[in-house]
Amino acid sequence: MKIKSTFLLALAFSTGVSVFADTPVYLDDSKPIEERIDDAISRMTLKEKIALLHAQSKFSAPGVPSLGIPELWTDDGPMGVRPEVLWDEWDQAGWTNDSCTAFPSLTCLAATWNPEMAKLYGKSIGEEARYRNKSVLLGPGVNIYRTPLCGRNFEYLGEDPYLASVMGADYVRGVQSNGVAVCVKHFALNNNEANRYTTNSIVGDRALYEIYLPAFKAATVDAGAWSLMGGYNLVNGQHATYNQRLVNEILKGEWDWDGVVISDWGAVHDTKQAVEGGLDMEFGTGTDGLTGPGNSYDKYWLANNYYNGVRDGIYSEEQLNDKVRRVLRLTMRTAMNRNRPWGSINSAAHHQACREIGEEGVVLLKNENKTLPIATDKVRKIAVIGENAIKRMTVGGGSSSLKAQYEIHPLEGLQKRFGDDVEIIYERGYVGDTVTHYNNVWTKQDLRDPRTPEQLKADALNAAKDADMVLFFGGLNKMYFQDSEGTDRETLDLPYGQNELISELADVNPNIVVVNISGTGVAMPWLDKVKAVVQGWYLGNETGNTLAGILAGDVNPSGKMPYTYYATLDQCGAHKLGDYPGTPRHDPVEGDIIDMYYNDDIYVGYRFIDKNKLKPTFPFGHGLSYTTFEYGKAAIDKKKGSADDIFTVTIPVTNTGDREGSEIVQLYISDLKSSLPRPVKELKGFSKVRLAPGQTENVTFEIGRDALAFFDDKAHEWVVEPGKFEAIIGASSADIRSKVGFEIEK
Ligand code: GLC
Repeated sequence: MKIKSTFLLALAFSTGVSVFADTPVYLDDSKPIEERIDDAISRMTLKEKIALLHAQSKFSAPGVPSLGIPELWTDDGPMGVRPEVLWDEWDQAGWTNDSCTAFPSLTCLAATWNPEMAKLYGKSIGEEARYRNKSVLLGPGVNIYRTPLCGRNFEYLGEDPYLASVMGADYVRGVQSNGVAVCVKHFALNNNEANRYTTNSIVGDRALYEIYLPAFKAATVDAGAWSLMGGYNLVNGQHATYNQRLVNEILKGEWDWDGVVISDWGAVHDTKQAVEGGLDMEFGTGTDGLTGPGNSYDKYWLANNYYNGVRDGIYSEEQLNDKVRRVLRLTMRTAMNRNRPWGSINSAAHHQACREIGEEGVVLLKNENKTLPIATDKVRKIAVIGENAIKRMTVGGGSSSLKAQYEIHPLEGLQKRFGDDVEIIYERGYVGDTVTHYNNVWTKQDLRDPRTPEQLKADALNAAKDADMVLFFGGLNKMYFQDSEGTDRETLDLPYGQNELISELADVNPNIVVVNISGTGVAMPWLDKVKAVVQGWYLGNETGNTLAGILAGDVNPSGKMPYTYYATLDQCGAHKLGDYPGTPRHDPVEGDIIDMYYNDDIYVGYRFIDKNKLKPTFPFGHGLSYTTFEYGKAAIDKKKGSADDIFTVTIPVTNTGDREGSEIVQLYISDLKSSLPRPVKELKGFSKVRLAPGQTENVTFEIGRDALAFFDDKAHEWVVEPGKFEAIIGASSADIRSKVGFEIEK
């Protein structure tokens, strides 16, 4: 007998299978997650439960060491995986293996209007997060572009809830296919950076449900995001990250969402509100985790205070267990998921994805007399002007700042693409920002220039006048009061005197093209004086190659604007009707806050433009191509039906030019008569079709009740009212190509 048990023991060791105790349920992959969670909770002490709910370092939370439940590691950000920081600092840990692929800004992704690009983006960035052993990627940001001044518009998906919903949901699916959770942010109405900790966004239910929540609902309910980040701001008087209405009633109530609500870093200010307001995990609270008696993480609002409150019966164990359950579910979906792929980082595939997304997102805004693509038989000498032709943009901008493994800036890209074929001369034109690092990630550039502003301008004008073409690379950068977290822009104008410089350059050489590098809209007072304008976005590692490819015509641009290019702030409802940046008030509970009334209500972006019959610089959905497209007449399969019917609209689109190209066909729905006010039209479908010269494709849209409904805030439900509707097909929100009416019967 002795031989047998020894043999069994040897067999056990050799196969690693425990023959002593059954594998505990919580560790048994064959058991349903909910059963495993119940088992784990039954084995946890109160102290272990509380510890699970708050950070132990800047970006991690403890698991349950005694049970072998792993820690939860998070990391920024929406456009690339942030480099390692010190245990509890924002500063770099100085690792040498944590550079990453910097992908294009999310406004660029939205400008592709291509869900395949969103899936590719999510999958690729998720692989990098997985390889870096992060269980939670702190993105995507899906806040609606309400004002062009918001410092973080570049991290978000534009002004329209439908476009942001479709693109955000597929980004989520892509990331989570790696067994990495997204943390969709910043829930909700975090639409400006000015006073971001104290702004109290005051909004009615129609705008809440029709404009500001859809992208979060698509990410959480449709795409199944495993975590979500509560914003710093207040909503209708209570902090968003533990807002009774937003978190308990809507997110966990109406939407029945089973994920984890994670606070933004330092967004928690009170234990009772956090516990009862549906917060599940607290990160980044004031302490640096090191000063003060012992480990100051115990001072977190969901730490000792919460422990004592549960122990003394102030807070229920059942409520605590719901939070623990959610965190364990997140852990079992990620860190404890043995079937996850292994990820990869800085791969050729990711560099290719970066370039493809950029190429599909760049928007050709203006192209007079086919100035672009550059005809190198005529253009033999190019003057490249502007700081943004040489400035690295992957560093800076706040938490989305990255340590990119490399970054090809525009001038490099042009020199590589055109080589000796075309003479390229470069002049700075102005000195804007010479910052060298952010959070100790270094740009490795020294952008100082000893010349005076006058000399810089004179040199630029001199270079321009002798050139066949001027390429001006301007726009914003990731510095404060530009495209940067924590600050909003203070004007629509370009900084550093660019407007004047562009105008003077056009005077000396009218064959000028402006490439605007930014993540948000800017004023273009020089527009009539330039031949072409390209919205160049922040494009990450492959910036220069992407832009050179477009300018040279290797790639036919196909992006369209995910936001309205306002000529003035008066064209934007947040400024014309709203009281941005709000009015200070002392609140007895929340202290000094700033009330900001969303008086623009549902009229955000083109909805405001349409209602007031305004003419922006460029409309939502606008974008040109190097070829041309012709739209036929829209047809509908039935003229009448019920609200539950599906109406099918078809429209032929033809490439009438001489080169292949992609066209984004947009479907807007207009409710011709409604009991509550509605926008003139709303985006309810889009399709990006790739067509060879002369090719025609019948583009089809299915219209269901979601495309027809509006939110009745009195009845608190989505309603489709009988009556006449119109399906409007546009090449942009202002370039309407065909309409077809239909009717919803009682
Ligand atoms: C920041 C940002 C948030 C980021 C977090 C961690 O303040 O608001 O987007 O993910 O803190 O860096």
